[in-house]
Amino acid sequence: MARKIIIDTDPGQDDAVAILLALASPEEIKVLGITAVAGNVPLALTAKNARIVCELAGRPDVPVYAGCDRPLGRKLVTAEHVHGKTGLNGPVLPDPVMPLQDGHAVDFIIETLRREDAGAVTLCPLGPLTNIAMAFEKAPDIMDRVAGIVLMGGAYFEVGNITPAAEFNIYVDPQAADIVFKSGVDITVMPLDVTHKALVTRARNDAFRALGNRVGVAVAEMTDFFERFDKEKYGSEGAPLHDPCVTAYLIRPELFSGRHINVEIETRSELTLGMTVADWWRVTDRAPNAMFMGDVDADGFFALLTERLARL
Ligand code: BDR
Ligand code: CA
Repeated sequence: MARKIIIDTDPGQDDAVAILLALASPEEIKVLGITAVAGNVPLALTAKNARIVCELAGRPDVPVYAGCDRPLGRKLVTAEHVHGKTGLNGPVLPDPVMPLQDGHAVDFIIETLRREDAGAVTLCPLGPLTNIAMAFEKAPDIMDRVAGIVLMGGAYFEVGNITPAAEFNIYVDPQAADIVFKSGVDITVMPLDVTHKALVTRARNDAFRALGNRVGVAVAEMTDFFERFDKEKYGSEGAPLHDPCVTAYLIRPELFSGRHINVEIETRSELTLGMTVADWWRVTDRAPNAMFMGDVDADGFFALLTERLARL
């Protein structure tokens, strides 16, 4: 039976690919809704981009909700320097026709978790954790009902991409991340340590384009656009597909490996704010609270992604 999920997201080209992979995989994944959060670009754009991506996938029926427009306790930091002014720079895609749903994303998350069977819904955050933390604060009863959280965020060996110490999603709202990591919900983390191994090389980009469908060409153009940033910064072979690691994990968990360890979020230090302090070497006696991934079979990941995008 397909796993029911809510995708919480700030698209973002890599978020877009993650959503496309989920929508291309109905045997394994049923997307109950998409909730937008401010992150890579402001909320108005992430809520719009989520709908652009649904329409690109031919799925205007997926409900999209707008959520929090800023982090819980600090000013929003965005990443136009990576994703471009719209967040989805690269392909030319039409403005969405499908409407945004009425109501707040946080209420949609709460109502969905209360309505569905306990343990039936997995949350898949691909951006700052503001909406998820707000939902847990507003309705603590739902925490027991979540099947699990599979998220993209943090780093240990790769350390930071937005500051020397912190990964973007966690840095934007460390307070929200702290609430989520302390929630007691089963958490699986795709940190930069994994996503920096999921690189769109030239051959992989060519394979997307060669699919010949609108989606394949759009994904090739998206990764063409945002690879320039990582190539320049890391000297890497291409764009890291951060967020699709989350949806790929739901389909083929065996592609990933990691450790069940303690992960704490730095919320106070100015220097290391948003750092995911991961006890990878188990040097403390702090209780494990997350499955923190460390490696991915990149060829297997891209084979899966290409095969699924061909279906759209
Ligand atoms: C994360 O930050 C965003 O820029 C990407 O969409 C991804 O979710 C990587 O640090
Ligand atoms: Ca994202």
